[in-house]
Amino acid sequence: MSEAAREQRLRRVRALVGRGVDAIDTPALVVDLDAMERNLQRMADFAAGHGLRLRPHAKMHKCAALARLQMAHGAVGVCVQKTDEALALAEGGVSDIYISNQVVDPAKLQRLAQAVQSRPDVRWAVAVDSATGIERLATALTVAGVQAPGRFDVFVEIDAGQNRCGVEPGDAAAALAVQVLARPVLRFAGLQAYHGRAQHIRDATGRAAAIDLAARAVRTTTEALNRLGIQVPLVTGAGSGSFALEAGSGLWGEIQPGSYLFMDADYAANEALPGAPVFEHALFVKSQVMSRSPDRAVVDAGHKSHAIDSGLPRVAQPPGLDFANSGDEHGILRPASPDGTLPELGETVWLIPGHCDPTVNLHDVMVGVRGGLQQGRVERVFEVDARGALG
Ligand SMILES: Cc1ncc(COP(=O)(O)O)c(C=O)c1O
Repeated sequence: MSEAAREQRLRRVRALVGRGVDAIDTPALVVDLDAMERNLQRMADFAAGHGLRLRPHAKMHKCAALARLQMAHGAVGVCVQKTDEALALAEGGVSDIYISNQVVDPAKLQRLAQAVQSRPDVRWAVAVDSATGIERLATALTVAGVQAPGRFDVFVEIDAGQNRCGVEPGDAAAALAVQVLARPVLRFAGLQAYHGRAQHIRDATGRAAAIDLAARAVRTTTEALNRLGIQVPLVTGAGSGSFALEAGSGLWGEIQPGSYLFMDADYAANEALPGAPVFEHALFVKSQVMSRSPDRAVVDAGHKSHAIDSGLPRVAQPPGLDFANSGDEHGILRPASPDGTLPELGETVWLIPGHCDPTVNLHDVMVGVRGGLQQGRVERVFEVDARGALG
């Protein structure tokens, strides 16, 4: 799409501000602002009540305005997963950004280092799990002219049980911290201990067992560092499925939940953890019936409108409908019970995406609605600033 066509489309969406939900063209990604703000506040209250730093994961919404809103509600900064996400959010006025992931490609590190040099107003951090990664990062910063001692925060990522990124806990992790400390431009900020798979373990007991193992990895590594006379300034990690467990352990000082803000169908299927706040669905795909047969209604939202990696969307409104995938641009609705009814041609159908992160990445904008999905009005439009920023 040309810049002009894209701008024209954005203008059309921005012109919705002040109008009723009926005016929103379909399919569209819609944020229920009232529900989102309740989620925002509940997580902020939880973190404050437990003496934790809150650093929400912005990979979920990829939106600078939402990151700034989270920081205005107590977050110390945000996480991102990708270099280009970090650059997009910095461009959008976000002042504290942690890439909670590995960056080893010299070209990406060069982009990052140049941004660090040109944006002294932003606090930057990254995770490392290899000696090569540390060397390349330090070299890129030097080449870009970044010299101030401790200018760049580095967290050593340990494998907290997921067997994804992360160095072996204990001595191997301590050796990387020593290497970070040997580079004056880097500050050893602490440990990254995130267990992604644990987030989606349905039963609370199973999730607690997984985070117990992660806690053991943190303890082993802290002890190895202490033996070398090194203190761990901070342990960061945790997601929307587990943060109450990390909070309860007393080991983590910072939590990184992302999905709590929008709350997708997959997370809603988790058994709740004792003491964790309850979050509401705040992200919806507005769709419309475009074909109707006696036994089915077909909506104009397929998997180009919502990600299906964590399951199909649930139908929020009207109630009593099952959604079946029917390709890129179609979804088939059938009554969930034999006496159920189907929506009519042209009727609006609200879907709750299975997985919010990749759903957001399918859209240029999210339409923020105040006053509910039935009677509400469009209050603001959020651009997905880091859409497609995968590098
Ligand atoms: C490093 C890291 N921290 C935190 C999260 C938490 O995200 P969420 O709460 O959306 O599961 C993720 C998600 O993948 C992650 O990769």
